[in-house]
Amino acid sequence: MLRTVGAAAGEGAVVADLFSGSARVAHALKAAGWRVVANDHLAFAHALALGTVQADAERWSVQARTILAKLSHLPPSPGWFTATYAEGARYLHPANAARLEAVRDAIERLDPEPELRAVLLTALLQAADRVDSTAGHQMAFMREWAPRALKPLELRLPELLPRPAAGPCLALAQDAVELAASIECDVAYLDPPYDQHAYLSNYHLWETLVRWDRPETYGRAAKRVECRTRRSAFNNRREIGPALARLVGALRARTLVVSFGAEGFLQRAELERVLAARGFLRVLEIPHRRYAGTRLGIHNGRGERVGTPGADTTTERLYVVSDRRLDLPADQPWADAVPREEPCHGRDPH
Ligand SMILES: C[S@@+](CC[C@H](N)C(=O)[O-])C[C@H]1O[C@@H](n2cnc3c(N)ncnc32)[C@H](O)[C@@H]1O
Repeated sequence: MLRTVGAAAGEGAVVADLFSGSARVAHALKAAGWRVVANDHLAFAHALALGTVQADAERWSVQARTILAKLSHLPPSPGWFTATYAEGARYLHPANAARLEAVRDAIERLDPEPELRAVLLTALLQAADRVDSTAGHQMAFMREWAPRALKPLELRLPELLPRPAAGPCLALAQDAVELAASIECDVAYLDPPYDQHAYLSNYHLWETLVRWDRPETYGRAAKRVECRTRRSAFNNRREIGPALARLVGALRARTLVVSFGAEGFLQRAELERVLAARGFLRVLEIPHRRYAGTRLGIHNGRGERVGTPGADTTTERLYVVSDRRLDLPADQPWADAVPREEPCHGRDPH
């Protein structure tokens, strides 16, 4: 991915990641020296982007490390969070949940400025992630404690990066389709949901840890009730096509890099039709191993298998479309999806 962006983005370029999720890609883009705009509509994803992409090391490392050292010594404080997610559901060992609860309450009381708050919340999410008792997603939890869940919670300073020479990075929390027209960048990386699986449901616990809003929950998995109603257009078979077309049509970027699962709601031909209007289009197929939950089957709160294991691998397609012919990494089997003599622009990208 980085090499693909590298083929399109020169030094000092602005790269936008409009569905930033864990912020791992946006963080790697910042580390590579680009100015990054990271956006995601979920609160926990925005906190991760604010805390690891917008926040610069030289501004926050010392202060955040000092605060985290103090927070590490807080006594456990079991309350609604521990009762809901460690005793009712069992995502975290009660000892760790009670410490998380104490730290989260303390961050609320400290009321730090937004970037510092996001660095502290990122440290908390990363600490929780290292000791959770799941197979990766929060649709279910392990019947017996995962060995890592028995390890003590440890707060560590997130990997902060220095501000790129090209300028500051930015984290936003907006609907990508609404945001598109106001973003100006050299490369836009789009990794939207491509089927019914929503990050809000898969990571509802992280959303709650960040929003700290004592949500009403349902079922053995104790998901936030809004998981039933708050849906992205990209999780809807009928809405995804028009949403993507609007997004692609509105973006002012010379190059788009779009990641989309081969088994998603949109077929390759449909995506090619939407993207080809922006210029030279090439497609790469990348096989991935599926996450553990899918390979093992899904279990309910009693540890009974309620889903069947899926195939071992899944294919991600990377669509790269640009107003010019790019020199893409030669060791990858790129295909000219829509061979053209001249680029054909639905609109002028600049
Ligand atoms: C496949 S994940 C992105 C994963 C990300 N590339 C990573 O490295 O973690 C899709 C993301 O899109 C976000 N999302 C879904 N619909 C959105 C919308 N309309 N606007 C902004 N973000 C959206 C979800 O919250 C989720 O984090």
